[in-house]
Amino acid sequence: MPLSLLGLTDAQIERVGYGSYLVNAVADCAACHGRPKPAGATGFLAGGERFALPAALGAEVYARNLTPDGATGLTLTEDQFLLIMQTGLDKKNPGSRLLVMPWFEYRWLTVPDLLAVYAYLKAIPAETSDVLADVKNPLASVPLPGAYGDGDVARVLFDGGVPDPDGVLRGYAIQPLAQPDLSAQPPAVQRLFGRGSYLVNAGGRCNECHTNPPRDPVMLKINTAAYLAGGMVFTPATPALAESLRLKRSMSRNLSGATQGYAASFIDFVGTLATGRDVTAAEPEEVGWPMPVWALRHLTLLDLEAVYTYLRLVPRRTGGHDPVTPEPVAYCSATVACPAPQTCDVAAGECVGAPCDAQSPCGACQVCTASVCTAPAASSTCVTQGL
Ligand code: HEC
Ligand code: HEC
Repeated sequence: MPLSLLGLTDAQIERVGYGSYLVNAVADCAACHGRPKPAGATGFLAGGERFALPAALGAEVYARNLTPDGATGLTLTEDQFLLIMQTGLDKKNPGSRLLVMPWFEYRWLTVPDLLAVYAYLKAIPAETSDVLADVKNPLASVPLPGAYGDGDVARVLFDGGVPDPDGVLRGYAIQPLAQPDLSAQPPAVQRLFGRGSYLVNAGGRCNECHTNPPRDPVMLKINTAAYLAGGMVFTPATPALAESLRLKRSMSRNLSGATQGYAASFIDFVGTLATGRDVTAAEPEEVGWPMPVWALRHLTLLDLEAVYTYLRLVPRRTGGHDPVTPEPVAYCSATVACPAPQTCDVAAGECVGAPCDAQSPCGACQVCTASVCTAPAASSTCVTQGL
């Protein structure tokens, strides 16, 4: 996007740039708040997307317009923005907290980084986009705690005082597991681990997709037993989206399991994120939606190394929390065919019939019946809750 930088100092311009890095490479705010659309209107961060809520929380919410449009966009002051990002306060719905917006993770970003995000949002093109009203039940916002308590141990946040420009100290503080003990690791590795934890736990939302379920929705405690062990199921909300993605169902990969966890080399990890294709597969397949490769591919090599180092050093999950996480299942219909040897189960809208056995499991939630993969019942616990 063209940015409006008129009148900004060099330091302010640099801050806008780092804000862009956080928004577009690390956090992928556009995944929910709107990607650029062709034909005139850009739609970039202009909001409008609908998110259905579980019945206990209400009916639906809509991603807000984050562009600087004076009437329909982000009109919050810097202080209000900070408060919202750190506490989930929903100014539009008094007495409510933001429910889909992952503020419970972004609240751990350092204040300078949150202000960089704000500076970037103020510099992007304004767009008029009046977002529909949310339908949700009241739920109080949560004051920013003085220490980190979402994980197994409480940790000091190193606020103010100690400069922490890369979030390394913050990353250490917000790592949800009691271990690992890194005292024997070289300082360079400790540094990468801290930065990696910051990217994974404060900005990258890895936990919100790679832990199933990710956390207690009210108290916000992370499900540490299954931390990053994958198994969450994703189904495109409409047949049109499924058709455009050619995807019926995907499942997040087990990244932390002792035996089934992610074991690719650093080179393959970088290759996969940079190309958006799993380079370790015999025939590299596109990494399935909604894994945000389109954003993460823009991470610097050093940040990729930090994330990789973190994933390698995080203590392994075992037993029932170390599942095999299968490949995505392709969408099909009377007019959209399946890759051979699979055929289309038109009623289920998915490709079936691949050969299967203990060594080669079926795609996400499919059932291996007489050595052939079949569609699961829509009510199966795998489809409704994941692994
Ligand atoms: C998973 C989807 C999702 C992601 C990712 C996401 N948001 Fe949101 N955001 C929402 C939704 C939905 C709402 C409003 C309703 C709610 O959550 O209850 C919202 C609300 C907000 C608000 C409140 C605006 C207001 O006017 O009160 C701000 C600010 C915001 N988002 C900023 C961001 C930024 C900055 C990022 C990236 C760092 C981001 N969001 C990433 C879904 C998301
Ligand atoms: C919005 C949900 C979502 C988020 C956020 C997310 N992932 Fe994923 N991720 C997935 C899904 C789904 C898959 C499985 C894709 C497939 O099977 O093709 C996946 C796959 C992966 C893979 C395996 C890629 C391959 O095919 O070899 C890695 C590595 C990974 N994710 C790392 C991360 C990291 C690190 C983060 C945070 C920086 C992250 N993911 C954030 C959903 C997500």
